[in-house]
Amino acid sequence: MRPRVTLKLATSLDGRIATASGESQWITGEAARAEGHRLRATHDAVLVGIGTALADDPLLTVREPGLEDRQPVRVVMDSRQRLDPDSKLARSAGESPVIVLTIQLPAPALVRAGVEVIQIHTGRDGRVSLRHALTTLRDRGLISLLVEGGGEVAGSFLRADAVDRIEWFRAPILLGAEGRPGIGSLAIDELGQARRFRRLAAEPCGDDLWERYERL
Ligand SMILES: NC(=O)c1ccc[n+]([C@@H]2O[C@H](COP(=O)([O-])OP(=O)(O)OC[C@H]3O[C@@H](n4cnc5c(N)ncnc54)[C@H](OP(=O)(O)O)[C@@H]3O)[C@@H](O)[C@H]2O)c1
Repeated sequence: MRPRVTLKLATSLDGRIATASGESQWITGEAARAEGHRLRATHDAVLVGIGTALADDPLLTVREPGLEDRQPVRVVMDSRQRLDPDSKLARSAGESPVIVLTIQLPAPALVRAGVEVIQIHTGRDGRVSLRHALTTLRDRGLISLLVEGGGEVAGSFLRADAVDRIEWFRAPILLGAEGRPGIGSLAIDELGQARRFRRLAAEPCGDDLWERYERL
């Protein structure tokens, strides 16, 4: 058993989540960001990769007025516990739970900061096993999971066929091939191997486009 997984993407028109230098914070506009907070409020947990945690130092809390009491558990996939004990996530762990999924024994500095460090099996790629991570979260009663990136983590979830819904906010800008892809490698050689999704809706969201998909 695994949680129901929603993948949220905030990209340029050409599917990029950041410039080559890693700049990403304001690709989509205010309306899309507010919807992003509403999505957090309707999921039990929010997950990012350590690449995102290091690049953006996000808080991953719900900051939309009226929804502040609906805080999801915050989860970081971090094989080698590179999360800084002084990061916003670790520093706020006392107010709302933060889980680090790692392949190592818990690092004392993170545990002291109040982060729950869970040792997960090592996957074939030498990183946190996605399958074991998902069953571990489900066993903790986390039934719905919002995956907020970055590209490598999104690719892993899609490769494992573990995405039930996609919420895609697309801004009307182009970042080109140098930009970082919103979805990493899917190891697809033939079209027949590609997973298809059904579009549920497509609507304007401020200056951006909000597309919603579910797995077929
Ligand atoms: N526009 C947006 O909405 C948005 C959203 C999120 C991120 N971003 C941008 O995306 C960039 C970061 O993306 P990224 O692709 O470099 O990093 P990422 O996907 O956030 O994190 C990747 C890292 O997660 C760890 N990991 C552990 N287990 C994994 C597994 N099973 N599968 C995949 N990763 C696993 C790996 O590091 P270890 O081996 O050390 O564990 C891996 O290198 C930043 O520039 C950020 O600003 C943009």
